[in-house]
Amino acid sequence: MNTFVTFEGIDGSGKSTVSGRVCEELKRRVLKVVLTAEPTKTPIGEFVNTCIRTNANPYLTAFTFIADRIQHCAQITQWLDEGKIVLCDRYAESTYAYQGAQLQGTIRSPMKWLQDLSNGKIIIPDRTFLFVIPPVKAVARIQQRTELIPFERQAFLERVHRNYLRLCTGPRFTRLDATLPIETLVLQCVQTIIGGKNE
Ligand code: TMP
Repeated sequence: MNTFVTFEGIDGSGKSTVSGRVCEELKRRVLKVVLTAEPTKTPIGEFVNTCIRTNANPYLTAFTFIADRIQHCAQITQWLDEGKIVLCDRYAESTYAYQGAQLQGTIRSPMKWLQDLSNGKIIIPDRTFLFVIPPVKAVARIQQRTELIPFERQAFLERVHRNYLRLCTGPRFTRLDATLPIETLVLQCVQTIIGGKNE
């Protein structure tokens, strides 16, 4: 029953709420499921969070995110070997979209460069959900929180949003309208995951 599912989208797209609810729903159906996230809660993940908060050098940030992911993949592989459904809130497309936006203008084709760095070193998900929302709406949602991190500025999120739309094409990706009610989104994800396993 093992399958690896990732949830992607700009800040404020609601993917963390939905992935949590999807996990509960799959458990209710007596499926073996684990919910994880990046950056991870390991020392490397903590360092990643410091990089984000302090607006560190984008190359340092990119390499650290990839290092965190490579370490995370060992754990994900173990869960998959145990027959679990692994749900991951943010994964490789986050690095390509966000660090691609940060590195824009410093090197040619930053997203391709980041993909090349990762290829062969990380697991490819079976399914990736992209939560699509206009950045102006996402920022309105985020502003209700107290402290904004640098990545949550609208101009930056516009670039990340465009990167996601360029990246997330092909059979692995399912695009979701993130402005729909949470219940609808949860149902769409659950049906896609379970339907995918019955194919
Ligand atoms: P979170 O809000 O989903 O916990 O993610 C924290 C921030 O980290 C969010 O603004 C997106 C950013 N991020 C990257 O820039 N690159 C990555 O590879 C990942 C996983 C997250």
